[in-house]
Amino acid sequence: MEKTFVMVKPDGVKRGLTSAIMQRFESKGFRLCGAKLMQMSETLAKTHYEEHKERPFFGDLTKFITSGPVFAMVLEGEGVIDEARKMIGKTDPKEAAPGTIRGDYAILKSENIIHGSDSPESADREIALYFTKEELIEDRSSTRV
Ligand code: PPS
Repeated sequence: MEKTFVMVKPDGVKRGLTSAIMQRFESKGFRLCGAKLMQMSETLAKTHYEEHKERPFFGDLTKFITSGPVFAMVLEGEGVIDEARKMIGKTDPKEAAPGTIRGDYAILKSENIIHGSDSPESADREIALYFTKEELIEDRSSTRV
């Protein structure tokens, strides 16, 4: 079953939006496979955002993402990578549609509440960066409630 990585950034955690954001994904029908509140190290931040290391905002980005705890999640479900990105909305909250997470909760691109993997390759890479196999509860389709 398809999986994606989603992370509530320090601004979202600080503003108490973690449970509201998790609720949106669960209400949509995606299953939570793993979740944790954690403080990112500078090394993890630089590794996660490695592809942007030449961009002018890289220093601000790593400083921001390590400025407080983040809430990391792995979600599972049909088409979850693209669907979660749609639910998250455009990177710049000013361009994000109302009804999306960034459209509803953020104003600034530098504090845009949430990250979501943008492709199957990114999802695999990011899940492995944040979670061990033992931390993930996979495919619960046969679980009795
Ligand atoms: S995109 O969607 O990848 O084209 O967006 P991009 O503008 O290239 O931004 C890449 C990620 O960097 C974050 N970002 C910033 N964070 C902090 N401060 C500043 N100034 C800033 N500018 C861009 C942006 O939110 C993207 O992070 P993620 O976590 O992927 O959303």
